[in-house]
Amino acid sequence: MDEKKIEVLVCSGTLCYLMGGSELQLLSECLPPDLRGKVDVKGSPCLDFCNHPKNGRPPFATINGRCIAQASVSLLIAEIRKEIKG
Ligand code: FES
Repeated sequence: MDEKKIEVLVCSGTLCYLMGGSELQLLSECLPPDLRGKVDVKGSPCLDFCNHPKNGRPPFATINGRCIAQASVSLLIAEIRKEIKG
């Protein structure tokens, strides 16, 4: 059984923070009970996605290294579920 946690990095750089990333800082508290303990949420300085328009719009986060644009708590929870399903 794979016990490895899903790694979520939430950008706390200025642009992402101003574009709605502030709510993402609360992600670990907003996780549904079945996801708790399976996800490792960390804040990160600017992930540099904001400097490349092809990445989409801020706020950004990554899930196991995969860039998520226009991230919200509900989008990240949905993406974490996808990641768990594989
Ligand atoms: S401030 Fe978030 S990617 Fe740059």
